[in-house]
Amino acid sequence: MIKIKKTKKSSYNIGIIGVGWVGLITAASLADLGNKVRCFDVDSKRMNNLQKGSWLPFYEPHLKQLVDKNLKAGRLSFYINLEHVVENSQVIFICVGTPSRKNGSVDLSYIKNACQDIAKYTNESKIIVIKSTVPTGTAEIVSKIFKRYYKGQTDIVSNPEFLQEGRAVESFLKADRIVIGYPGLCKPATKKIMKDIYSPLKVSIFETNNRTAEMSKYASNVFLATEISFINNIANLCDETGADVKIISDIMKADKRIGYKAFLNAGAGYGGLCFPKDMRGFIRAYERNGYDPTFLKMVEKINLSQRTIIVKKIRKALGKLKGKTIVILGISFKPNTDDIRDAPSLTVIEKLLSAGAQVRLCDPVALHNAKAVFNNRVTYNFETYEALKGAHAAVLITEWDRYKNIDFMRARKLMKKNIIIDGRNIYDPLKLKKAGFKYYGIGRNN
Ligand SMILES: NC(=O)c1ccc[n+]([C@@H]2O[C@H](COP(=O)([O-])OP(=O)(O)OC[C@H]3O[C@@H](n4cnc5c(N)ncnc54)[C@H](O)[C@@H]3O)[C@@H](O)[C@H]2O)c1
Repeated sequence: MIKIKKTKKSSYNIGIIGVGWVGLITAASLADLGNKVRCFDVDSKRMNNLQKGSWLPFYEPHLKQLVDKNLKAGRLSFYINLEHVVENSQVIFICVGTPSRKNGSVDLSYIKNACQDIAKYTNESKIIVIKSTVPTGTAEIVSKIFKRYYKGQTDIVSNPEFLQEGRAVESFLKADRIVIGYPGLCKPATKKIMKDIYSPLKVSIFETNNRTAEMSKYASNVFLATEISFINNIANLCDETGADVKIISDIMKADKRIGYKAFLNAGAGYGGLCFPKDMRGFIRAYERNGYDPTFLKMVEKINLSQRTIIVKKIRKALGKLKGKTIVILGISFKPNTDDIRDAPSLTVIEKLLSAGAQVRLCDPVALHNAKAVFNNRVTYNFETYEALKGAHAAVLITEWDRYKNIDFMRARKLMKKNIIIDGRNIYDPLKLKKAGFKYYGIGRNN
């Protein structure tokens, strides 16, 4: 359980609209800070199951304990009746999805629909907080929707969420910063309530206007994605020139201006719900505003090419892939989550299948989601050594702890051939060589 020092409590009636990753973590965390939190999602099955307790729609460390604790305490509840949630909430957080349209622009229809539905039930002043990642100007669009239905003042606040899946509860309760953007004519009471809600977290709060808050989320995600593609580009050069990107990355991180936490880890590239979609959304925003997005498009292109580079390395190591058994270690887009949305593994698996390989998937929690995509086109193993039996190659795509600690002496005895493709550069090439493996990392002087 994540523990934070709570010197103060917050005790507002809060509504959460959209109970996905962001909605559920926001709801459970705000309930844990002392607020009374009522949730609504259009997925009524999800609401009913959550209200029964001991059930989560996805895997996220520490979340089950937090949800169960606050459900029991009566601070957290799930409804299929939006009117009830709106009527009983002073502050309403909108956490619905903002997917990409075909042309890469952000589809705001979920936000607009949710706001229209909330506005219809609004008959007294409320604070509407947009937590979803939205393009600049969205708060103004939402404000117009509210004005159509409710004549009083509704303050639309932009409060982008920076949580990280896989450590979402911790990254919410121990956030690096909170960003709150207000409209021009915001009531002082609104600002006070927003600060009160977050004050138990004892974290820096950046208070600004709506547009700055909205863009700050894109700028952060796009910067992190750029770091990943930057180091991947260096890695590819390392593969050509015989340098080792892992050492280069450590040398770069030792520079305090770069920092040891920099996202400079070469590998299979980024995936997940946020980085790819936010990159696409930002590229469209550049284009709409007359700026040349070539630089951002390169970041995206390098990222996608990493998936192909992994397949090329497998081909180089195994020759023809037809009939070869290849184990994929890690399907989720990052460790400690079962989220496989836009995961690099999906592209690699599809390419291997098209080349006629027999693919075995191994993951501690994401196999149920993988089954929905690949059905019987692949086989599934929860247990690592079981998966490795008789395999020609193992390809590490997600750096789960359990894969960091594989006993390679044992693995070598189980596998038919001795090929390891390290798509996250987590292994020591010398150790693997000693165990009898041929090691292929990303930019590691193979
Ligand atoms: N997942 C992350 O790590 C993360 C982190 C920070 C920000 N974000 C942003 O937060 C937003 C939500 O992301 P997510 O991962 O939680 O999405 P999600 O797809 O997991 O959840 C969205 C939920 O909204 C519900 N919904 C859709 N329309 C609705 C409506 N009209 N009324 C009520 N519920 C409705 C859906 O049923 C779904 O359960 C996105 O904008 C995303 O970019 C996500």
